[in-house]
Amino acid sequence: MYLVDRAIRFVRGFLLSFGPQEIKQRVWDREYRKNMWQFRDHTPGDCVYPHLESHTRQGSILDLGCGSGNTATELSESAYDSYLGVDISQAALEKASTRTKECGREEKNRFARADFLEWQPPSGQFDVILFRESMYHVPLSKVKVLLDRYSDYLKDGGVFIVRVFAANKETAQMKHRPTAMLRIIEDEFDVVEKRRYETSGRPTVVVFRPRQRADIQKAG
Ligand SMILES: C[S@@+](CC[C@H](N)C(=O)[O-])C[C@H]1O[C@@H](n2cnc3c(N)ncnc32)[C@H](O)[C@@H]1O
Repeated sequence: MYLVDRAIRFVRGFLLSFGPQEIKQRVWDREYRKNMWQFRDHTPGDCVYPHLESHTRQGSILDLGCGSGNTATELSESAYDSYLGVDISQAALEKASTRTKECGREEKNRFARADFLEWQPPSGQFDVILFRESMYHVPLSKVKVLLDRYSDYLKDGGVFIVRVFAANKETAQMKHRPTAMLRIIEDEFDVVEKRRYETSGRPTVVVFRPRQRADIQKAG
């Protein structure tokens, strides 16, 4: 049973990172419609919110892999001026829009359905680009390329914020893929803050920005 479970998880993970867009959308839609992610719908006080609040500068947020709208509805409303959530799942976005209406944030929150591996923001730049529990679905070989591409959509002084479960919940041992992602970020970008929390699931939050051109030339 354990082996079957692991095999299913491996296939799911592989498809969600490397599969065609239609398959990824279908898998996520099915999981959201079956309420498999409902447990993540209420996360007030999450450790990522103080990081967001201190870097958003009352400005704009691009949330890649936004899910069913917890950041869009739980982050203090006064912390930001505009929010764009992108997700591959229509079912997740329907929930996010409903919750946005319920808390009266239609003026601030917008949503778009897209695969963030290929999506180009239509216009504008953001103070914060967030990957909250969504970076797992970026193949390791694409992490730097993807972040370089999205760097063009950061305002001057803007930052990326990534939240991942990098450590095993029970043993606290570091997991291979999230750790490799964090290493790429630390090697290739300027890390502003990094903190592992000992709260449920032991999440890690890392805040970083593109290296200044002068620093890249010096390093090269
Ligand atoms: C674990 S959920 C996290 C949702 C939300 N950020 C949160 O922290 O509650 C991962 C989300 O990423 C989205 N996602 C995964 N791969 C994606 C892709 N390639 N493009 C856009 N969204 C993606 C999924 O649909 C899902 O909503």
